[in-house]
Amino acid sequence: MKTETIPTNREVFFDRDHFIVSKTDLKGRITYVNRAFCAIANYSEKELIGAPHSIVRHPDMPRAVFKFMWDRILEGHEVFAYVKNMTKSGDHYWVFAHVTPSCDAAGNFLGFHSNRRTPDRRVLGETIIPLYEALRRTEAAPANAKDGLVASYRQFSDIVQSKARSYDELVFSL
Ligand SMILES: Cc1cc2nc3c(=O)[nH]c(=O)nc-3n(C[C@H](O)[C@H](O)[C@H](O)COP(=O)(O)O)c2cc1C
Repeated sequence: MKTETIPTNREVFFDRDHFIVSKTDLKGRITYVNRAFCAIANYSEKELIGAPHSIVRHPDMPRAVFKFMWDRILEGHEVFAYVKNMTKSGDHYWVFAHVTPSCDAAGNFLGFHSNRRTPDRRVLGETIIPLYEALRRTEAAPANAKDGLVASYRQFSDIVQSKARSYDELVFSL
């Protein structure tokens, strides 16, 4: 279980030539991590295997982005997304993630896979951070979390559609 880690507001970085990799089961429980994952997140492999992937969730991440990601991968699509993650000590690191479902020959889901590299800092600063801050404000505004998610998901979809045909097209056009 994830303990209540307090964000430090300190960013940590990883090399441009490093890829942070993880795999999960169908419920998002971690089944594989590479060394780069353990090194940046500051967890041991033992602590990560079997844990829900939200173990590295940062509270600044809008819930709408994870809803979008899960909806898409469960429809069999791959997703590209900017994600702010939290280390064991509360520091954070930004990634550009490529999340894909793994299927057997009959098309049944076996699990999910994520491959992350360093994000484009200009895109982060100009677009992603302001967008995610706006979504978080929308999520926090209503009295209950469910209404907040509905409102921020609509806002997210409207913003994407105003700029591109899809979220993938948007992130690659930035
Ligand atoms: C393959 C895969 C990789 C994921 N990687 C991350 C990640 O790096 N950071 C993260 O916060 N959530 C990640 N998630 C999403 C989590 O499963 C979860 O939906 C998210 O952390 C929100 O958790 P919450 O609904 O408990 O707040 C990943 C999910 C999958 C299937």
